[in-house]
Amino acid sequence: MNETKKNERVEEVFGLFLKHMKTFLKEANLNHEEYTNFVNWADRLGRSGELPLYADVFLETHVLQAMYTDKPGTQPSLLGPFFIEGSPYLENTPGKPIVNTMRADEPGETLYFSGRVQNLKGQPLANTKVELWHNDNSRKYSSFDSDAPPYNLRGHFYTDKNGDFEVKTIAPIPYSIPTEGPTGEFLEYMDQHSMRPAHLHLMFEAEGYETLITQVFFEGDPWLENDVAEGVREELVTTLHDKGGHKEAELAFEMRPE
Ligand code: BEZ
Ligand code: FE
Repeated sequence: MNETKKNERVEEVFGLFLKHMKTFLKEANLNHEEYTNFVNWADRLGRSGELPLYADVFLETHVLQAMYTDKPGTQPSLLGPFFIEGSPYLENTPGKPIVNTMRADEPGETLYFSGRVQNLKGQPLANTKVELWHNDNSRKYSSFDSDAPPYNLRGHFYTDKNGDFEVKTIAPIPYSIPTEGPTGEFLEYMDQHSMRPAHLHLMFEAEGYETLITQVFFEGDPWLENDVAEGVREELVTTLHDKGGHKEAELAFEMRPE
């Protein structure tokens, strides 16, 4: 007997997709030329390697909102296309519970970011793995078009016994998603800008809890209200305090039980 590759979840989701697409097609009054144009553009998107970028800009936020709006705990935000596995383990600075992601000559404004990780009852989650990644002062992510060495401004570390962590890094700055390819072409059709507000990416992993992938944004950022990827959630926006020579910011995170 042939082994079947049937996947009931694929069948269920595709059935629902077709059901809703029929209503959508009637409402959009799509013609055959538009369909062909779409197929050609989607083919260019796939060939360019930008499918993950496009999906993360235009779809990921809706998947997350459908899953998490109104759920207790910190709202997730976009994983995005710039996460890579294998970041270095960052050890605390001797004598201080602070990890450092920066090179000695890292261009940018120094930021001390501190966080507290707790569960839905407000109990601290010690020894939670925290993964951090963000862009550099050239607005790029290491390993993606940046001149910085691999894994620059990327690392993982663990919360202390109070669920706290502190990281010394640079304040991220707003950046444009890549616009040279089919994703940029789509933005032009929509007459839409390509900017994301400055943000830190964080991923938290603790035994017995749902992995939390989220971002932190900063008050006063000009792109907060119109992030191209719609990743901003009010509770993820914190204040960037100017401490004369460096910046400081903090935020608490609540993880949901598995
Ligand atoms: C990001 O946060 O890095 C990102 C998210 C979605 C699309 C592009 C970039
Ligand atoms: Fe990002």
